[in-house]
Amino acid sequence: MISDELLEKLNEQMNFEFYSAQSYLALAAYCASESWDGFSNWFIRQAEEETEHGMKIFRFINAVGKRAIITGMESPNNEIRSVLGAFEAAYAHEQEVTRRIYAISDIALADHEHATYQFLKWFIDEQVEEESTVDSIVQRLRRIGNDGNALFILDAELGKRGTTAAAL
Ligand code: FEO
Repeated sequence: MISDELLEKLNEQMNFEFYSAQSYLALAAYCASESWDGFSNWFIRQAEEETEHGMKIFRFINAVGKRAIITGMESPNNEIRSVLGAFEAAYAHEQEVTRRIYAISDIALADHEHATYQFLKWFIDEQVEEESTVDSIVQRLRRIGNDGNALFILDAELGKRGTTAAAL
């Protein structure tokens, strides 16, 4: 039986995942405006994933007989001024997501809510991958610095990211 507190936190996380999608779209928009179409593609794909993360929680809340509440969202950060800044913001965002997932997991464990904890384990694993992926891109961008050719190569590489069932 899910407690009111746990339900509230799940609902909050669902909305935060939708906010994550908006945040990634804002980063995609910056990159697109600078004609970094590969980086923009990467962020658009990430936004798609975040929407699906939110929908996973939406479906879980319904599956346990509760009602998901869709709340409004604050505006994402539209002030990014560099590709490196965009990925650094993405990394900080993923760290925040991880903190939130851990906090909800702590409540589920304290409540002995095994079904919810089992559900959250997917997100725990996903966060390891997401933080690692974004951190790797940040490290590469830092090494690249002002090397335009290397930046073009990375842009082309990230432009190949597609939507995969595994990613969702
Ligand atoms: Fe759904 Fe990137 O966390």
